[in-house]
Amino acid sequence: MVLGVKIILERMKIMQQKRILTGDRTTGRLHLGHYAGSLQNRVRLQDEYDTFILLADVQALTTHFETPELVETNIYEVAIDNLAVGLDPERVTLIQQSAVPAIAELTVFYSMLVSVNVLRHNPTIKTEAKQYGYDELTYGFLGYPVSQTADITFCGADVVPVGEDQLPHMELTRKIARRFNALYGGGQEMIKVPEAMVSATPRLPGLDGGAKMGKSAGNAIYLSDDTNTVAAKVNMALTDPGRITRTDKGNPDICVVSQYHKVFGAAQCDEICSACRDGKIGCAACKQRLSMQLDTLLAPIRERRAYYEAHKAMVHELIAAGSEKAAKIGEEKTRLVKAAMHLAL
Ligand code: TRP
Repeated sequence: MVLGVKIILERMKIMQQKRILTGDRTTGRLHLGHYAGSLQNRVRLQDEYDTFILLADVQALTTHFETPELVETNIYEVAIDNLAVGLDPERVTLIQQSAVPAIAELTVFYSMLVSVNVLRHNPTIKTEAKQYGYDELTYGFLGYPVSQTADITFCGADVVPVGEDQLPHMELTRKIARRFNALYGGGQEMIKVPEAMVSATPRLPGLDGGAKMGKSAGNAIYLSDDTNTVAAKVNMALTDPGRITRTDKGNPDICVVSQYHKVFGAAQCDEICSACRDGKIGCAACKQRLSMQLDTLLAPIRERRAYYEAHKAMVHELIAAGSEKAAKIGEEKTRLVKAAMHLAL
């Protein structure tokens, strides 16, 4: 009886909770940039929100269509990275994007509501296209923000925690949702217009000083990197190029390491930066302190990662169950959408 009441109360809590949906392309393991920009937020938010995490394998194909087997491996890697940072498998819903037919269906319907010009002027698309060196954008790549709109809206997500590079996509999502509601919603918010929630953490530059940490840029520290790899990568990080000897006065404002200190070791950052400005700490010692700081952060993540790697069948089960739940939610949504669009005879 008491247990029954407890279960009902838990259910009511979940029903009242707002929903978040966010996700990652399954193109590779996740790195510190993902952690700073989104993962640490997810862990905090799971207590408050019904949390949906999308393993975006279809979106991964926009750049990796020639290597789908790599995308498959990375569905697991990305799921494990999310669990390793502390998302609770009992509470979060892990979803394989391609296993939710509603996402594909809604993508098609939404594609009527957005002009090619709007997509072409999306600043994130432009940057990424340049980064991948595309002469010719594929239809799928240009349109992935439309598919992302379907990711977010098939389950009526209220809030989408994202890094700032995703804001143009969020703007599009809100635009499409409003357009849909105006055209077919009969005055109702049939498609929920979601809010973006941007991480308060400053954007993490790449080890080489590149604007963003990224796998393709080869300038990333992965959540799965071991102690020695982290130390070796930190040692390579770009520092103030004007600083030659240990006693030269440094400028932390143009040093990548200082920016990492700011994000991952705020408590010691001021002290280290002023010592650098006074020429009282050398780059080697400063980097060593960062490596230690990162190791403290990564040690429990590595430990959980090892556990889930040893229990891959369980991870598979989690993804299958989450995807099935999502597919059902999506089915209900497309039923309503089709009826509203006069497609249900
Ligand atoms: N485009 C996102 C990224 O590159 C990943 C993503 C796919 C996503 N679908 C999403 C993020 C839905 C938020 C919501 O990081």
